[in-house]
Amino acid sequence: MKEDLIIAIDGFSSTGKSSMSKIIAKNLNYTHIDSGAMYRAVTLYAFQHQYIVDKKIDVDGLVEHINDIKIEFVQDPTSQKNITYLNGENVEQEIRTMKISKMVSPISEIPAVRDYCVALQQKMGENGRIVMDGRDIGTTVFPDADIKIFVTASPEIRAKRRFLEYQQQGKDISMDEVLKNVKERDYIDSHREYSPLRKADDAIEVDNSELNLEETVNKVMEIILSRK
Ligand code: DC
Repeated sequence: MKEDLIIAIDGFSSTGKSSMSKIIAKNLNYTHIDSGAMYRAVTLYAFQHQYIVDKKIDVDGLVEHINDIKIEFVQDPTSQKNITYLNGENVEQEIRTMKISKMVSPISEIPAVRDYCVALQQKMGENGRIVMDGRDIGTTVFPDADIKIFVTASPEIRAKRRFLEYQQQGKDISMDEVLKNVKERDYIDSHREYSPLRKADDAIEVDNSELNLEETVNKVMEIILSRK
């Protein structure tokens, strides 16, 4: 049985990719990398340094300073959750806000941003024993990944899940706003010129519209164990 696998879990936003990847990594005693957190951290950096002002992006300014961005993941010993650090600062909460969600897709369209994040992802996964979730892990980051899963669910169901999360966090955002953001990100992510979101030919599609997190994890674990 092969041990040091690279498992790529791609799909649309709010399909629960990160939550399922985290549990799957724990089951297998692997490391989980949430690649979306990197694009979110770059977006936060762009806000912090005024490369985003009034929704306009100063692409040249950001690209010139791309190598000043240091992204790290540190595991919280109690929750075992990965905490995202941007230039030494814990930004885990801040990168999940709607302000970041609204600008992350246009930022992740910039080729130099993608090159930067992809290189970092390849470095983090080079030794295998990794579950990485994102949009282009099975197509671009690890085209030779051992197992590729592509997760889908209807936009309405995904928006509802995200909406409930925001509500639990006490955030005052309407369902319409969340659905609009989900659809906008779907469109930009799958239509961008450079490394768009698409199912790799050899990926196995899992539609979890009718499945909860536990059922989704069970389904994906079955696929992994049958292929190991
Ligand atoms: O997984 P997420 O929703 O946190 O990702 C945020 C954004 O980052 C998403 O809208 C597109 C971008 N992204 C990407 O372009 N490529 C990846 N591998 C992961 C995320």
